Amino acid sequence: MSHWRRKLVLWMVMVIQLSLFLSVFSTEIHARKLLKDNHINTNDVRLHISDRQVIIDNGLVEVTIENPSGYLIGVKYKEMENVLERRNHNSNRGYWDIVWDDDAYDKLETKHVEVITQTNDIVELSFTKTWNSKNHGKTLPLNIQKRYIVRRGISGVYMYGIFERQEDFPEAHMYQIRIAFKLKEDKFRFMAISDTIQRVMPQSEDRVKGHSKPLDFKEAVLLTNPSNPKLKGEGYQFWTQTDEIGRFNIKNVRPGVYNLYAWAHGFIGSYKLDLDITILPGNKIELNTLIYDPPRNGPTLWEIGIPDRTAAEFFIPEPYPQYVNSITNDGADKFRQYGLWDRYSDIYRDSDLVYTVGTSNYSKDWFFAHVPRKIGDDRCRPTTWQIKYNLQDVNNRGTYTLQMAIAAASFAEVEVQFNDPNSDRPHFTTKRIGYDNAVPRHGIHGLYRLYSIEVPGYRFRKGSNTIYLTQTRSDNSFEAVMYDYIRLEGPNSLNN
Ligand SMILES: *[C@@H]1O[C@H](CO)[C@@H](O)[C@H](O)[C@H]1NC(C)=O
Repeated sequence: MSHWRRKLVLWMVMVIQLSLFLSVFSTEIHARKLLKDNHINTNDVRLHISDRQVIIDNGLVEVTIENPSGYLIGVKYKEMENVLERRNHNSNRGYWDIVWDDDAYDKLETKHVEVITQTNDIVELSFTKTWNSKNHGKTLPLNIQKRYIVRRGISGVYMYGIFERQEDFPEAHMYQIRIAFKLKEDKFRFMAISDTIQRVMPQSEDRVKGHSKPLDFKEAVLLTNPSNPKLKGEGYQFWTQTDEIGRFNIKNVRPGVYNLYAWAHGFIGSYKLDLDITILPGNKIELNTLIYDPPRNGPTLWEIGIPDRTAAEFFIPEPYPQYVNSITNDGADKFRQYGLWDRYSDIYRDSDLVYTVGTSNYSKDWFFAHVPRKIGDDRCRPTTWQIKYNLQDVNNRGTYTLQMAIAAASFAEVEVQFNDPNSDRPHFTTKRIGYDNAVPRHGIHGLYRLYSIEVPGYRFRKGSNTIYLTQTRSDNSFEAVMYDYIRLEGPNSLNN
């Protein structure tokens, strides 16, 4: 085989089950049930290609794709002429897009259509474009194939992509690939993510002037006069938990190879089973007793927060009166309010947060998110938080450990200094971490991270000490971390 060019092929697979849409006229949606189509239609799959469009029809669903752009422009199903929004331009109904490099955007508009398979049972088409060096910097340097498949008896369309990178193509950093569908607005006034996550949605007309006020990022508006007065945002989280004595049972696992992870409220770190677990159909697997030995290098000198992977126990400020969302303003969900991040700059107007071990109370004195400080409307600057504490004795030759557990991070970096805030290099840095976006999404946790930072005893002194936590990134208010829990451990007396 010749190696003169290497291919990188990415696959994306997606199935749209149109049966889901059956009950579009009622607000009660029974998604699971509707996935089954009772009257199986077994017509042949037919393909019609014209200059402007391609139509694939299997008697259940008729899929129209613009030729040669590859935009999905029509899906006819049952009594609905088009489940996609016909008022939208062809390029804005069913499209693929990629965000790459510095916010460059490519909607993968293709140049050719090719029939890959055409039988009475299946039609597969490929909409393609080849990258050309003339477009350097303008279009994503990949050869693109957008594949569409319609099969006999199935009320949907399968989609996947083949993206090819040749060796001489320039570098590109892709960080978002998606397929988006803009559904017919007057029929789809709800969202249905699962049987239990279903909700009436605001409409695009609710987002325009007169009905809403723009907020800090594109997706956020304040609904001032929504078409449905009951509309309020709400969030959900789901957890699998053991019983009080640690027993658990996971049913209906699909066949495959798995790892088992666990964590326990009140303990840092994560458990991971050493073995892979292979599940075959009908398998019942007993795991017997699993033992988790959480990280610890020495006795606790002090701690801040509760190791539970969220920042919910810290200080969550009152929302600005104009943004209060009454549905979510009870105790446990206090963080689900718009604009809380700006309260940091109100509360710590002149200087940053200082936490004194022994006097401060983390539910009142530790802000739930380490955000930059706002200075003026559009500018932010980094913030340094201090933890002050006393040590009665110091073991100069021992090794101390700062356990720093992070509940969420977005394009943030925490630098840690012990006693000397101005040394050239921080003792430790997380480097830039996280894409969780928990702050603007009104979340309280994202991807968990644990840093066990070792510190030689000579960095400490008898009496008062300070740890400096600097969040160095401040391009905008949302570059932030949420701490889960911080603990200083003394040297292990056995080793020192
Ligand atoms: C810390 O503050 C919270 C909230 O005001 C209070 O419920 C708790 O008792 C305080 N804890 C201590 C140790 O004072």
